[in-house]
Amino acid sequence: MPAPTPAADQAIADAAAHLRAGRLVAFPTETVYGLGADATNSEAVAQIFAAKGRPRFNPLIVHVLDAAQAAEYVSFTPLAHRLADAFWPGPLTLVLDQRGPSSLSDLVTGGLTSVAVRAPDHPIARALLAATARPLAAPSANRSGRISPTQAAHVAADFPGDEPAMILDGGPTAHGLESTIVDARGHLPILLRPGAVPVENIAAALGVSVLRTETDAQRPNAPGQLTSHYAPRAAVRLNATDVQPDEALLAFGPDVPAGVDDMINLSPSGNLTEAAVNLFAALRMLDAGGARTIAVMPVPDTGLGEAINDRLHRAAAPRPADSTLG
Ligand code: TXA
Ligand code: MG
Repeated sequence: MPAPTPAADQAIADAAAHLRAGRLVAFPTETVYGLGADATNSEAVAQIFAAKGRPRFNPLIVHVLDAAQAAEYVSFTPLAHRLADAFWPGPLTLVLDQRGPSSLSDLVTGGLTSVAVRAPDHPIARALLAATARPLAAPSANRSGRISPTQAAHVAADFPGDEPAMILDGGPTAHGLESTIVDARGHLPILLRPGAVPVENIAAALGVSVLRTETDAQRPNAPGQLTSHYAPRAAVRLNATDVQPDEALLAFGPDVPAGVDDMINLSPSGNLTEAAVNLFAALRMLDAGGARTIAVMPVPDTGLGEAINDRLHRAAAPRPADSTLG
């Protein structure tokens, strides 16, 4: 496996050369680390699915520098312009209709007519996009169905093989949770995945309501959102108010059960931003400790809590026998 490389100028130039040659490069974004490929090169994009063990029908997010580059591949609605003006660069992904004929690989969209695009707000991601001069398809840089990586070492642990060719190390990520995904094809945004931009912030910035689908089963446009995901090896028990002898505790807030040795507190002060930053690394650490079950204390469901609870519910969901969705 490649050791993480500090992302100096030469490393970024080397990484861009790998991407232009059809190899994969893992790189930091402000949300989680991404496993990037040239989105216009089908052989390169196919390597993403192979390396992750990701089902081909689960489409990828295309990363661009800005709305002007995105508009080469997708049709911007008035709503999409307002969202991009308010939140790009940043952790908001827009699902829009693909402009045809487009140079994007069909593997990126998994056969959908829409494409998910976002402009990341991270100096290394942006330097890599500029040096590569291609749109980069990049899912989270974890094995499909496992916990998303917020540190370069998490990526290295998940990919022992030939790909990615390089892992650019930018330290721990700022948000710790993936981007919020909204369908921006209509007049109002439709939430497809809660994430690092709280829904309340979108509603406030645009002065509109954000529509929601009521259940997962009614989310045909978000193929990656349907089953177990973010899963540690240990079982996950939610809304825990006590801890059993063979359990580790993922705590939140100041009121923690006494006498628990194997415990990580996401935020002793009960701060949701801090909890989001710590969530995935904490799940990995408790998992590495070998507990049979991770008991998770309740987290409030407002603001970033919605995305935290979404990830925790998927971590606790029944696991299919084979790997899931990326
Ligand atoms: O923060 C993020 O979004 C990170 C960083 C690396 O940018 N990326 C990420 O990618 O989380 P991934 O592949 O782990 O999740 C992408 C999600 C999947 O659930 C996929 O189904 C959904 O985006 N998606 C991609 N294209 C879509 C489309 N055209 N319509 C609806 N959902 C789409
Ligand atoms: Mg993912």
